[in-house]
Amino acid sequence: MFRHTLLLGAIALCLLCHALHIEGDRLRSTIQELKEDGQTKRILTSLKSNSIEMTAFGEDSSSWGQPYYAVHQTTSGGPGDSYYGLHVTTDVYSHNLKPGQQTSTAIWVNHVGDGVKSSLNTISIGWHIYPEHYGDSHPHFYTDWTRDGYAQTGCLNMDCPGFIRVNGAVIAPGDVIHPVSGVPGGRVQNITLRLHKDKTSGDWWVYYGLNGIPTGVGYFPRSLFTYLAEKANHVAFGAFVDAEKALPTPPMGSGVLPNGGKGHAASFTNLQLIDKDGNSSPIKANLPELITMAKCHSITHIDHSQCLYGGPGGCV
Ligand SMILES: *[C@@H]1O[C@H](CO)[C@@H](O)[C@H](O)[C@H]1NC(C)=O
Repeated sequence: MFRHTLLLGAIALCLLCHALHIEGDRLRSTIQELKEDGQTKRILTSLKSNSIEMTAFGEDSSSWGQPYYAVHQTTSGGPGDSYYGLHVTTDVYSHNLKPGQQTSTAIWVNHVGDGVKSSLNTISIGWHIYPEHYGDSHPHFYTDWTRDGYAQTGCLNMDCPGFIRVNGAVIAPGDVIHPVSGVPGGRVQNITLRLHKDKTSGDWWVYYGLNGIPTGVGYFPRSLFTYLAEKANHVAFGAFVDAEKALPTPPMGSGVLPNGGKGHAASFTNLQLIDKDGNSSPIKANLPELITMAKCHSITHIDHSQCLYGGPGGCV
C-alpha cells in the first residue's frame, strides 16, 4: 500500500520542500498564495532555518503527484508549542473516484521531533475515499499514525498493530461511513471527531460520532510514540486530494468551492482545541492556511469556530 497521505503529517515541513524543489505550476502557485497571506508567510520564513532537514520531505518516487492541501494549521512546531487535542464536526460526502485518486478530510496531531523526517510523530483521523486501498468509492472512517516519518512504523486503520479498539465501539477504523450527504443543498450528514491525549494514561484517544455526540472508539497507546508520548507541538485540520500524475485531482469535500456557501460547500464547525487537562476551548482566531491551488480546492478563514472548504478538483 502506498501511504501517500503521509507527508501530511508534516504539512508545514512540506511547504519548505516545495519551496526548495519547485517544479511546475502547482508548486509555484503554492508559494505565491502563501506570500499573499501575512500569517502564513511567517511559517515559511520560520521553516527556512531548518532547510537542510526539510529537503528530505520532498521525495517523490511514485507515480502519484504531490497532494493538494486546503488546511488550517498552527504555526510550526517548536519546543514551546504544546497541544493535547483537537475536536471538529465536519460533513461527509460520497463521490465516484477512480483508482489512482484520493480525497481526504482529516485532523492531525503532530510532533515534528528534532526536525529530521525520521523523528516525525503523527496521528491523523478523518474520512477518505480511496478506491486503491478499499476497492470501492465510499467514504471510510480512517486512522493513520507513524513515529518515524512514515519510514518503518505506522499504517492506516488496523493494517498493523497500534490502534487499540474498545469493545462495542460505534465504528472501526476503515469502516464505511453511511449514510452520507447527498447532492449539494440536500441533507448534510456530519461526523464529529475528537482526538486527545488522556491526562492519566498519556494515550491518544479517538472519539467519533455520526450526527451527534462522539464516543470513544479506541486509542493509540502512548508507548507507540516517541515525541507524541509527551505532547503534540503542531496540529492541523482540513482536507487534501491527490492523484496519479496522469489523472485530475478528485473533488474535495462536497465538490463545491467555499464561495458556494454553507449547505453547499463542506464545512468544519465547532472547532476546538483541547488542553492538557482535557478541557476544550473554541478556536476563535483564524489559523494560518495552506492552500495549494485555490481555484480547484480551498478553505475559508475561521469565523465563529467554523469554516468552509472543498472544491471540484480537476487540477492536473
Ligand atoms: C450534524 O447533524 C445533526 C443531525 O442532522 C444536526 O442536528 C447537527 O446540527 C449537525 N451539526 C452540525 C455542526 O452541522
